[in-house]
Amino acid sequence: MPAVWSHNTRFCFLCGKFPCENLPKMIFWNPDIVNRLSELRQKYKSQIVEKMRREIITRSARFEEQTKDTKDEYNIYREHVQYVHKYVVMLSKDKNVDGEVLELAALLHDISMTDLSLDRSRHNEFGAEIAERLLTENYYPEEKTQLVKKCILNHSKRRQEYRSTEEEQILVDADGLSHFDAIKSMYSLPSKVMGLSEEDSVRFVQHKLTGDYEELSDDLKPLVKEKYDRLMAAKCAKDITGE
Ligand SMILES: [Fe+2]
Ligand SMILES: [Fe+2]
Repeated sequence: MPAVWSHNTRFCFLCGKFPCENLPKMIFWNPDIVNRLSELRQKYKSQIVEKMRREIITRSARFEEQTKDTKDEYNIYREHVQYVHKYVVMLSKDKNVDGEVLELAALLHDISMTDLSLDRSRHNEFGAEIAERLLTENYYPEEKTQLVKKCILNHSKRRQEYRSTEEEQILVDADGLSHFDAIKSMYSLPSKVMGLSEEDSVRFVQHKLTGDYEELSDDLKPLVKEKYDRLMAAKCAKDITGE
C-alpha cells in the first residue's frame, strides 16, 4: 500500500477506512489534514480510472492493428468495454457499492482478450492476473485490488457459484446488458471469426444471450425481455442483425 512519510509519520489516503479517527491525532500540526488528503484522494481516484481506461484503449487499438483485415479484427474497448463501463456507472448509482472498484473492473474485465496469445476461454483468469499486475504497479490498495480481481475472475458464467459481492453481480449485469446493445458484433463472432453456418450462428447467439439473460438480476430482466423474446424467435441472420 502506498504510504506518505512526513514528520516521521506514516499515513495513507487510499485505504477504505479513510478518513479514520486517528488521522487528525496523527497529523495534529495540520488542522486541515482531512480536507487536504480528501482532495488528494479524489485526484488519485480519477487518475487511476483514467489510467486504466488509457491502458485498455491502447491495448484494444494494438489488437485491432494486429488483426487488421483478418476475420479477428475487433476493437474491444470501442465495441464492448466502454458500454460495460457506462452500465456499471448507471447500475451502481445509489447503491452501497464501491463505484471505483466497479469502474476498474469494467474497464479491465476483458483485457486479456487483447492478447492473441492468451486462451479466450480462460480470459477471466488471465484478465484477473493482468488487472492485479497493473493495479499493483500503480500502487492501488491491495484490499481493493483483490475486489477488482474477484469481479473479473467471477464474471464468467462458470464461476457463478463463487460470486459473493454486489459488485460482482453488477459487473455481470452490465456485461449482459451491453451484449443486448451489440447484437450485430455478437453475431460476427460465430459467423465471421468461427466460420459457422448461418443456422449455427443464430443458435450460437441465442445460446449466448440465454446465458446472459439468465444471469441478469431479476429487476433488470424487463429492460431486455422484449428484445430477448424477439431474438429467441429468430430463424435467420436477418432476424438477428436486422440487416
Ligand atoms: Fe468477458
Ligand atoms: Fe465483457
